[in-house]
Amino acid sequence: MVTVTSVSALRERIRAWRGAGDTIGLVPTMGALHAGHISLVHRSRSLATRTCASIFVNPKQFAPGEDFARYPRSPEADAALLHTEGVDLLFTPDVAEIYAPDHATHVRVDGLGDTLDGTFRPGHFDGVATVVAKLLLQALPDVAVFGEKDWQQLQVIRRMVRDLNVPVRIEGAPTMREPDGLALSSRNAYLTPQERTAAPALFRALTAVAAAVAGGEAAIPECDRAIRALEQAGFGAVDYLTVRDAVTLDARTDPSRPRRVLAAARLGRARLIDNVPVP
Ligand code: PAJ
Repeated sequence: MVTVTSVSALRERIRAWRGAGDTIGLVPTMGALHAGHISLVHRSRSLATRTCASIFVNPKQFAPGEDFARYPRSPEADAALLHTEGVDLLFTPDVAEIYAPDHATHVRVDGLGDTLDGTFRPGHFDGVATVVAKLLLQALPDVAVFGEKDWQQLQVIRRMVRDLNVPVRIEGAPTMREPDGLALSSRNAYLTPQERTAAPALFRALTAVAAAVAGGEAAIPECDRAIRALEQAGFGAVDYLTVRDAVTLDARTDPSRPRRVLAAARLGRARLIDNVPVP
């Protein structure tokens, strides 16, 4: 595995691979890697002959007062893991490499980026769309892989790529979970042992709503019941727990279209997000 920190070195290496007939997969991450990230690496390796991973804790996607400074970082362990998993290139730019001091251009996906997490994390999806647009233009991969764990992010990225005609295939990969259902997340490191015991209630609540709504129950009372269950399990504020159109994230859902149950809830220092399909 080669590690590069500059856009020019990234492009040079990818150009050489392309010249040799390779196809390129990209897995963007913010590091503190776990098996969820590695599942994306595996997907990329099944779709392209060369896999590039990036680790960049993107300051633009953290709202003021969020956990940018204390976001978990484990660069050596991450690099060793990616190497073991057969990643060909690791791109670890610093902030100055990605954002010039007078950086002025932002990518904003109206509507999709304003709802749900966008309401509670102002500017978050502008930061995500901007950095992902840049990473895609820097690497120009054939395919880029993102997790369904961040369902809204995946929809924002798909729309951005479609709207801007970015020539890349966006691939979504299923959420990897602990045996008790908790979705793997770098932020699970914030949970105390007691909070960790309570955390799987989020997946249980989402699954219960999905099953009830699939069975024809009305969404709003089911979501209210699930929010109460989370509060009883020890969760703090439930930012949202709602059934949405899986693609448009519209609150008005049509049972003939795919639907998704999505939630964000506070547990101690952590803010957990998760989602499941309505079967
Ligand atoms: P990060 O949170 O590090 O996640 C990197 C990728 O891993 C994302 O596509 C995310 O959806 C996926 N992922 C996280 N947990 C997962 C799990 N349990 N199962 C499957 N996939 C999982 O998401 C970001 O970074 C950033 O916003 C980024 C896209 C890199 C832009 O900065």
